[in-house]
Amino acid sequence: MALFKDMLGSDESLFRNEMALDYSFLPKLLPHRENQQRYIAACVKPLLMGKNGKNVFVFGAPGIGKTAAIRHVINELEEETDEVTPIYINCWQKNTTFKIIVDICEQLGYKLTHNKRTEELFEIIKAIANKKSIVFAFDEVDKLEEYDFLYSILEEIYRKSVILITNYQGWFDDLDDRVKSRLMSETLEFKPYNLEETRDILGQRMDYAFVPNVWEKDAFELIVKKTAEAEDMRAGLYLMREAANMAEDKSSRKITLQYAEEALKKAGNFTIKKSADLTPDEQSILSMIKSNSEKKIGDLYSTYREQGGKLVYKSFQRKIEKLEKNKFINVKKTSGGKDGNTTIVKYATKTKKLTEF
Ligand SMILES: Nc1ncnc2c1ncn2[C@@H]1O[C@H](COP(=O)(O)OP(=O)(O)OP(=O)(O)O)[C@@H](O)[C@H]1O
Ligand SMILES: [Mg+2]
Repeated sequence: MALFKDMLGSDESLFRNEMALDYSFLPKLLPHRENQQRYIAACVKPLLMGKNGKNVFVFGAPGIGKTAAIRHVINELEEETDEVTPIYINCWQKNTTFKIIVDICEQLGYKLTHNKRTEELFEIIKAIANKKSIVFAFDEVDKLEEYDFLYSILEEIYRKSVILITNYQGWFDDLDDRVKSRLMSETLEFKPYNLEETRDILGQRMDYAFVPNVWEKDAFELIVKKTAEAEDMRAGLYLMREAANMAEDKSSRKITLQYAEEALKKAGNFTIKKSADLTPDEQSILSMIKSNSEKKIGDLYSTYREQGGKLVYKSFQRKIEKLEKNKFINVKKTSGGKDGNTTIVKYATKTKKLTEF
């Protein structure tokens, strides 16, 4: 009997390069984001001719290639020229003016930032930056606690493009008018990928990450479908890795439909961005919605204030918008009826489960 013939040996793996499934992995090509990359490149291009660049406001849902596209443009820029210095900052990690100014100094090659005040450091940035052209890419800008550095950059750095990236279109409207009018930015929206695009993108990742032919077609196709429905490429990367790990645990040489289904089941609690990633404020609004599901937004706001919430109504609405975008809640607008036009907010117990799409 050939009992062990079709089993994976202990020194074998279905993975060729598991790192290619990391969310931060940057593939050489970004299919279906060529237009967006070209658009951003066009905004930056005047800098290569010694002119001022354009600013761009980029928005779109999580996990659809915004960061990847920006990083690509920056890499190409670095290969193309030494005249333009790109500075990329993730504002989730660097969320205050001081942290950002220190980071810019370091990226410009100035390391002696210790014990210096923000103003001093900004003078140093000015001196260095105004000898050349700079592309500033501020990713996840909605995580910023302060944004007066933007004003300084717009006012005092002469040849630059400022790229702002966020999940929320509404973030821009709330910027200080002085910043807004100085930005005069172009707007670029990233839309979710459709089924075919999702298949191409995950197929490319499959080629990077796995030994050829280990995926059975129906298993891969199920993951493609669920990822397209979730409108988030991270879901696909997660599911591919999980399914493959489960197959390996069973020493299977193939990743069959059964493993894809098991991965989906396991991903039951997968949220696009985990609730742990929300700010304390957002978490408390979310838990309030959880215990007051399917209420009108106005009533929710009253409850929120009664419980000691400090936000004004408009900011509260924005939090609701954010929670909805990240699929923690569902929002339904109703018109007519006895309450006139209103918004009903519902806790998303179901939609956040990939298995239930
Ligand atoms: N067109 C694409 N081709 C190849 N990989 C892609 C593409 N779009 C997205 N990805 C991959 O999907 C993952 C998520 O993409 P990315 O980090 O760019 O999302 P994002 O839009 O910046 O999301 P967030 O708003 O949550 O920051 C990354 O691993 C990225 O490489
Ligand atoms: Mg991103």
